[in-house]
Amino acid sequence: MSSPSSFLKVAFATLALVFALAATPACAQNNFNPTAQSVKEDQLLKALKDGDRLTGRVSIPDQRAASLIQPEGREWRVFHQDKLPLIGGVVILGMLLGLVLFYLVRGRVMIDSGPSGVTITRFATLDRFTHWLTAGCFIILALSGLNLSFGRMVILPVFGPEAFSTLAGYGKLAHNFLSFPFMLGIALMFLIWVRDNIPEKLDLDWIKAGGGLFSKGKHPAAKRFNAGQKVVFWIVFFGGLAMSVSGWFLLFPYMSEGGVSSLQIWTTVHALIAVGFVAAMLAHAYIGSVGMEGAFDAMGSGEVDLNWAREHHSLWVAEEQAKAKTPAAHPVAAE
Ligand code: HEM
Repeated sequence: MSSPSSFLKVAFATLALVFALAATPACAQNNFNPTAQSVKEDQLLKALKDGDRLTGRVSIPDQRAASLIQPEGREWRVFHQDKLPLIGGVVILGMLLGLVLFYLVRGRVMIDSGPSGVTITRFATLDRFTHWLTAGCFIILALSGLNLSFGRMVILPVFGPEAFSTLAGYGKLAHNFLSFPFMLGIALMFLIWVRDNIPEKLDLDWIKAGGGLFSKGKHPAAKRFNAGQKVVFWIVFFGGLAMSVSGWFLLFPYMSEGGVSSLQIWTTVHALIAVGFVAAMLAHAYIGSVGMEGAFDAMGSGEVDLNWAREHHSLWVAEEQAKAKTPAAHPVAAE
């Protein structure tokens, strides 16, 4: 006969087995017991096919909370922790390095014929308001977004956890709310400038001449926006659109049927486009400020030097002066 102690051991073991079986998560796609001791997390992951996930049972209405393991989540994390910083570093730092090299080789693009002292109105108040609304939001969105991806690596070790978490908290708020005026800015920019940004044959000649950047004294003809600026305009429009659509799905998660998988896709799209967008805007900000004499005035006061305008936008100047000579038009340049 068995002793009372061995009877108790068998009884406890049976009870434990019953509880373990009752607590076993429903594992629709796999025919093994995921709580068995020999089953390691790694084996579970390998057993899951693409698109599978390990789910349990929950009594709350939100059935998404029943997901225990979704293998794509790990791929997503690896992408965000390892690959994205590498891609971001190469693209953004590569652009900064490229701009420094360009400055060292080419120097500042000067007004070849020197400033004339006479100005012509390049951008009206609405143009400048739209530009700085979009650019201002973009700069804060870019800095707060970069902080989300790289801050733990770059800011945290330098400023410590308290400063970093305060910064990241306000940064996230700014990122959420400034996305709306940014979208408005992109829409306004499209409406007021699209007419002057339609590609045409003249743009090919401008590109063939390298925009005159490497041939002093020779400037290819251009209308209100040259080919380089048209490229910037379309990058801003399509980049802004892609950031807005992907950002919208992140602002309002689970809007689409795809659940967490679609969130992973949208964050990846958002991050990759952001990296390219920031690099492109660095080049734009360089040439619109320190890179070219007289350029910043266009978006500063709205008045540019007539010689600058003649060198970079000869056909536009001719058009504006012709308009000014017609009786209904107002004078554009005080020569
Ligand atoms: C501090 C940063 C920036 C500076 C200094 C700057 C400067 C300028 C200047 C001077 C112009 C007028 C060029 C001309 O006379 O034709 C311009 C135009 C423009 N800017 Fe910016 N900008 C900055 C940031 C941005 C950002 C962040 C965006 C969009 C997200 C943007 C979008 C545009 C567009 C679409 C144009 C018209 C196309 C072009 O001229 O390239 N800018 N900017």
